[in-house]
Amino acid sequence: MKVETLPLAGLTTLGVGGMAEVWTVENLQDLKQAASRPYRILGNGSNLLVSDAGVEERVIRLGGEFCLFDLTGTVGAGALLPTVLQKAAQAGLSGLEGLYGVPAQVGGAVKMNAGTRFGEMASALEWVEIFHAGALHQYRPAELGFSYRHSELPVGGIITRVKLNLKEVGKEQVRAKMALADAARKGQPKRKSAGCAFKNPVGDSAGRLIDQRGLKGLTLGKAMVSREHGNFIVNLGGASAEDIWALVQKIKEQLPLELEWEVWGKVGQGVGTG
Ligand code: FAD
Ligand code: EPU
Repeated sequence: MKVETLPLAGLTTLGVGGMAEVWTVENLQDLKQAASRPYRILGNGSNLLVSDAGVEERVIRLGGEFCLFDLTGTVGAGALLPTVLQKAAQAGLSGLEGLYGVPAQVGGAVKMNAGTRFGEMASALEWVEIFHAGALHQYRPAELGFSYRHSELPVGGIITRVKLNLKEVGKEQVRAKMALADAARKGQPKRKSAGCAFKNPVGDSAGRLIDQRGLKGLTLGKAMVSREHGNFIVNLGGASAEDIWALVQKIKEQLPLELEWEVWGKVGQGVGTG
């Protein structure tokens, strides 16, 4: 196990966030030790806005045996989803290809029920193993309250492993669906972001609504509402969490949207602590 004090800016896709004590755990024994004090669990940091002041709690990262995977067996929650998805595609296994382009760890994708219009994580699961109350427990997807970008895990639960429910359909079919999911991303920016900032209202697109209000290109400090897609806030280089939060507020002044990101630590006037 490694314990380091690090800026979370280096561990999030937005590239924002102050210092935290980061515990990288290799096995269950490490995890039990790391989780013996207040903690947060970090995946690939692709849906997080972290305070410039960092966070007080320990930040747990999954390493070692939590990153191993075998598609016919189990998949560690610390494995990168894009890597697992590519391996499944090579084997002609269907179930994950709609998630092409989601830069998550498997655990983070389960927790957020990551998805696109071509499929969501919950549908690809047979069971989920979660560490909580000092032990490992196995759950069926129906027990985890999955809905659009949402799950209901036990409080403080850390996903450690999943069993995927993949179907052999052949490489061609898998690749064709991946190409569709890829094409749907053509309008998304390449700059640093945390994906869509807001959830889509039922039957509509937050990006379209932000665009309609003429908010694309709005810049505060080094944060900008992407000119390519209205629901992406991008870091132009050196943005602070406060810059980004101020943009979120500007958008919310005009539209009643619900934030999709999770906010860690104090951002704005101490609001939004996740
Ligand atoms: P993090 O951002 O690190 O954490 C998110 C939440 O999950 C936190 O609450 C964290 O505590 C929790 N968590 C992480 N790991 C675990 C674990 N092992 N056990 C319990 N809780 C855990 N999302 C979509 O749904 N669809 C998209 O199409 C999409 N496109 C994106 C494109 C880009 C370029 C980017 C940057 C992001 C995109 N996202 C998308 C958002 C993001 O990738 C997803 O929300 C993803 O599921 C977050 O996973 P993560 O591993 O990065 O988790
Ligand atoms: N649109 C605009 N202007 C914009 C952005 C979008 O007019 O600035 C229009 C598009 O032309 C299209 C419609 O709005 O007609 C929908 O846009 P898009 O196809 O880009 O989909 P989205 O609803 O904005 C959702 C997910 C994405 C996912 C894509 C592809 C949410 C909040 N967003 O975006 O997920 O990648 O579909 O399936 O559900 C994420 O959750 O972080 C994320 C990136």
